[in-house]
Amino acid sequence: MDADRVRAGTAVRGQGPVVSADADFAQRPVRDGAGPAVDVHGLAKRYGEVVAVAGVDFSVAQGEVFALLGPNGAGKSTTIKMLCTLARPTSGRATVAGYDVLSAAREVRRRIGLVFQEQTLDDQLTAEENLRFHAVLYGVPHDRVEPRIARVLDLVALSDRRRHLVSTYSGGMARRLEIARGMLHTPRILFLDEPTLGLDPQTRALMWDDVLRLREEEGVTIFLTTHYMDEAEYADRIAIIDHGSIIALGTPSALKASVGADTVTLGTDDDEAALASLKRVGYTAVHTEGGITVFVDDEESAVGPIVSAAEVPVRTVRARRPTLDDVFLHFTGREIREQHGEAVPMFARAHGARRR
Ligand SMILES: Nc1ncnc2c1ncn2[C@@H]1O[C@H](COP(=O)(O)OP(=O)(O)OP(=O)(O)O)[C@@H](O)[C@H]1O
Ligand SMILES: [Mg+2]
Repeated sequence: MDADRVRAGTAVRGQGPVVSADADFAQRPVRDGAGPAVDVHGLAKRYGEVVAVAGVDFSVAQGEVFALLGPNGAGKSTTIKMLCTLARPTSGRATVAGYDVLSAAREVRRRIGLVFQEQTLDDQLTAEENLRFHAVLYGVPHDRVEPRIARVLDLVALSDRRRHLVSTYSGGMARRLEIARGMLHTPRILFLDEPTLGLDPQTRALMWDDVLRLREEEGVTIFLTTHYMDEAEYADRIAIIDHGSIIALGTPSALKASVGADTVTLGTDDDEAALASLKRVGYTAVHTEGGITVFVDDEESAVGPIVSAAEVPVRTVRARRPTLDDVFLHFTGREIREQHGEAVPMFARAHGARRR
């Protein structure tokens, strides 16, 4: 367990710090002025030689669903930990709900809910008991506890399982219960670290229904991380993070438009030679599982010239609209599924280890 986690005390168990209730605790939505929910400038975290977060800048509007998308080891959890006051930034600054994460950590903690990447429920307790325990830790006023438990269980469609032991829950149900727990004390900003990790596609879709309902009905800002490209589409905006740096940020459609109108993937007899030839004449092209992917502005007129520019026999051609996978590919030269969560030493970054 690292020093930051030790300093964070009980919060590391997912139960959060003990806080007192706001006078305005009971009713949502509550908004502190018009400022951003999260505002980050040059935020960085280094663990010895490893740069976990390399200096990131972004802002999240109140009521926004904002996704931090990136491969294993990109720095997603570290960013969330700094925003939730569980890891101390090496440099830079961040405010959450208008409060500085370093100088006003207590104020930040009062206004956030957090669901950790690792499951932190007590599975020998029922859903209701888990929630009651959390309500005590967070100082939810006594007369608010019962209605609030009913409310959050309803929000994640678990009302009928409230008296069941968590050990009898499926993975998806446990995750939804954790989200309910994160909402129990009526936070203004809910942080979800990989809420859908390891869940099947159908359960992931249900989780997203829950998340969007929370935003709709409670006005909460949602900051989540994921490495599933497809589901980041549900977010209002996405920041793509790789090796601790944000490489692209925008709405899903703007990100896709930024890499071109279409992608053309060629299967050839010699992909290396085709890649070299295409790059030589100025195409933006990268090696992918399916062959060589080329980013183009207009697929219709591009296919013919691309096939001849490849200068090797072409066996297959596939043209399609860009996806978020293509956005990652375009900016990093790699497919996200190639990642193995490797740490990146500082010197590698300093010498531009990234391939284009
Ligand atoms: N406490 C720590 N001590 C040393 N290195 C750490 C620590 N926490 C994270 N790192 C390193 O920082 C980098 C970013 O880790 P982080 O957990 O933020 O990535 P992530 O994007 O959340 O990855 P994943 O998708 O696997 O959860 C990794 O190289 C990781 O090994
Ligand atoms: Mg993580």
